[in-house]
Amino acid sequence: MKIAIIGGGPAGLYAAILLRKHRPLAEIAVYERNRTDDTFGFGVVFSDATLDNFEKYDPPSYRRITQEFAYWDDIAVHFRGTVHRVGGNGFCGCSRRKLLLILQERARELGVSLRFETEIDDESRFADADLIVLADGINSRFREKHIAHFETEVDVRSNIFAWMGSTRPLDAFTFIFQETEWGPFIAHAYQYEAGRSTWIFETDPATFKRAELEGLNEKQSADRMAEIFGWFLEGHPLLTNRSMWRNFPMIRSKRWVKDNMVLLGDAKATAHFSIGSGTKLAMEDAITLAEAMERAPTVAAALEQYEQGRREEVEKTQHAADVSLVWFEHVDRFWEFDPVQFAFGVMTRSKAITYDNLTLRAPDFVAEVDKAFAKAVRAKGLNVDIEKPLAPMFQPMRLREMELANRAVVSPMCMYCAKEGVPTDFHLVHYGSRAIGGAGLIFTEMTCVGRDARITPGCTGLWSDEQEAAWRRIVDFVHANSAAKICLQLGHAGRKGATKLMWDGMDRPLEEAGWDIVSASSIPYFPDSKMPREMDRAAMDAVKGAFVQAAERGERCGFDMLELHCAHGYLLASFISPLTNRRSDEYGGSLDNRLRFPLEVFEAMRAAWPAHKPMSVRISATDWVEGGIIGDDAVAIARAFAKAGVDLVDVSTGQTVHDAQPVYGRMFQTPFSDQVRNEARVATMCVGNITTSDQVNTILAAGRADLVALGRPHLVDPAFTLKAAAWYGAEGVFCPPQYLPGKEQIFRNSVRDRQDFEDLKIKAKPKTRAELKAEASKPLAAE
Ligand SMILES: Cc1cc2nc3c(=O)[nH]c(=O)nc-3n(C[C@H](O)[C@H](O)[C@H](O)COP(=O)(O)OP(=O)(O)OC[C@H]3O[C@@H](n4cnc5c(N)ncnc54)[C@H](O)[C@@H]3O)c2cc1C
Ligand SMILES: Cc1cc2nc3c(=O)[nH]c(=O)nc-3n(C[C@H](O)[C@H](O)[C@H](O)COP(=O)(O)O)c2cc1C
Repeated sequence: MKIAIIGGGPAGLYAAILLRKHRPLAEIAVYERNRTDDTFGFGVVFSDATLDNFEKYDPPSYRRITQEFAYWDDIAVHFRGTVHRVGGNGFCGCSRRKLLLILQERARELGVSLRFETEIDDESRFADADLIVLADGINSRFREKHIAHFETEVDVRSNIFAWMGSTRPLDAFTFIFQETEWGPFIAHAYQYEAGRSTWIFETDPATFKRAELEGLNEKQSADRMAEIFGWFLEGHPLLTNRSMWRNFPMIRSKRWVKDNMVLLGDAKATAHFSIGSGTKLAMEDAITLAEAMERAPTVAAALEQYEQGRREEVEKTQHAADVSLVWFEHVDRFWEFDPVQFAFGVMTRSKAITYDNLTLRAPDFVAEVDKAFAKAVRAKGLNVDIEKPLAPMFQPMRLREMELANRAVVSPMCMYCAKEGVPTDFHLVHYGSRAIGGAGLIFTEMTCVGRDARITPGCTGLWSDEQEAAWRRIVDFVHANSAAKICLQLGHAGRKGATKLMWDGMDRPLEEAGWDIVSASSIPYFPDSKMPREMDRAAMDAVKGAFVQAAERGERCGFDMLELHCAHGYLLASFISPLTNRRSDEYGGSLDNRLRFPLEVFEAMRAAWPAHKPMSVRISATDWVEGGIIGDDAVAIARAFAKAGVDLVDVSTGQTVHDAQPVYGRMFQTPFSDQVRNEARVATMCVGNITTSDQVNTILAAGRADLVALGRPHLVDPAFTLKAAAWYGAEGVFCPPQYLPGKEQIFRNSVRDRQDFEDLKIKAKPKTRAELKAEASKPLAAE
């Protein structure tokens, strides 16, 4: 077998090594345009888990690599004169040059032919090769040549960065967030060998411009960075090596294989340097390729296996890198944060590290985070313990005069079983049991302001006395039997009205007994949905009146809070989104115009609703469609409602049009809550695939939301909050006297369960590299 590898970076060399190990007779050549030790960059970084992988696949190179590495366990965050250190991270760094020399040496030992100073410009010279590996890096010529086939997308990010080095020793992965007269600069720095550290400097384009970095040469740039970070460098110089300022390109390709050619490493996909995974991804690509070549009967089958086997992992890493880079791009959002909360945000930015996980590794740090959170609550006038604070989820919150016992919320969820809009015994049990289950706040399902405002025939309403009485019964039960507060969500279905019950076909039009529907514009939801009538001013007045009347009924029922539903493509949302609003009058066109009617309704309700009770608005912070609402619009929408008196923005997304492409995942809507909260400076509630109390605490402690709503988890677990309280030892959680023996038992058992969990986690923790380094110094056994 003949294999040609274009590019002698980590991907190309490691692929050569592993392929040759499996096929000692294969003719494998690596073509590299540079000279043997002609390499750019300073250090590379690997996690413990990545090194475990290297150990498994090629012990000799692994041993040599680990002999050369610098190890560290801590991450240090420097921000506004403070430093927070968090242990238990298990990373190591190595010089990129040494890594490549080790891999070259190992490849030679195995009989790989290494052809340096050989630039390849056409793959046709390898016409007789069985496999051509395209490992030619981030600017891959071959990916570009076949871009129509690979369907590569290059997303050039806004921040500008440069790699440099220094002799400054470091004992932790170090982030420095530095305020300057021009704006914020960030340094990501780590040691990779004795007396050498990598320094990546990053800033936003406006700061870059103000700092007049444009056009400076490497030396001048290094001098400017040394001025900014001089206090930390302690006289150590900054070193350069092709240290140009550039924008990071996030590369994704739809296909990685063309005939017998395969993309590997940066050529195929990149991951932002803030999660330190470029070299790791490149080498793990090589592992998967070599394994596939070992197992599959033909090269074509192997390449298919490689792509199938690797894509999910690469995309997961890229997603984590994306989330992380976005955090760095928007660091100014958090600049006013308490430094410990800021540091917690840095640690948890890409979702891999959580509140519970940090509690295990760095309990003192988390204790400080909890304390800062409790102090902020105390500063708002709530009498909480700041010496032994409860976890953020169990901190109270006040909105106007409504005080919530904790920050867990039952999200609004239609039950589709009302009779002519009247809530039934099912609703009483449903809301009642969730209130008893300990959540601080319960939302009603979208309750419709008129018969024709309903989504389905099973939706609840609040336009009649009978409905009012039924709701009052529920509210009274909640108040009499729990500590929960209850918020009425009022809405109008708009063009999504007259549709079937969820289990008969969500959003599908009713076949019979429907009713006339209205919307901002006459555009049906599905092509075969009922055509809505565009609202005229008289219809708008009638709807506004219906909202006000329902709000007044809500007050008579005793609801603690009121939410106006302006999300999910229903009537008011249909005014806000440009995808559903094509009006040419003063209610269409600009965002200000599109917001006019929803704000009018809100203001009328606010006037009718008691001043001491809070109001929220639910918005779709993105339509998940090109040309629709995006996060920046959501900030403007939130600001407009805040000006009109909203106390909380309930940040949801989508459901505006049927063909949207949401990007689902754990906590997938939380970034929008984060953006709205920290740019518009309003209190937010986030929601969406949040399933654990650990996630709730992570979101709250990082300042990404003020309340956390859970929908589906509450459908199957009314006592979600009570159980979480047992886990976190929040004794004060409400429990009705009838259930106290159950509470006592779960609190008792939780202490033991938590101990078992911690022991298990500690046992499962991989060997540290310090231990491995000791092993590596032993004589090498035959491999
Ligand atoms: C300038 C620079 C500095 C970096 N510094 C660091 C750092 O300090 N730390 C870190 O963790 N990561 C660093 N990175 C990123 C990291 O190196 C990559 O994620 C990782 O190297 C990817 O490995 P790769 O083998 O896919 O690509 P690369 O390492 O880029 O290797 C590709 C190789 O292909 C060769 N090549 C390209 N075209 C041809 C051709 N037509 N013919 C022959 N050879 C060709 C190139 O010379 C190069 O050696 C740096 C990247 C760059 C571009
Ligand atoms: C059965 C069901 C009914 C829902 N009904 C409503 C509703 O009436 N009003 C509303 O704003 N959102 C409604 N939603 C959306 C939820 O409030 C929540 O935003 C969504 O389920 C995402 O959260 P989760 O991942 O915790 O379930 C509903 C969701 C479900 C699953």
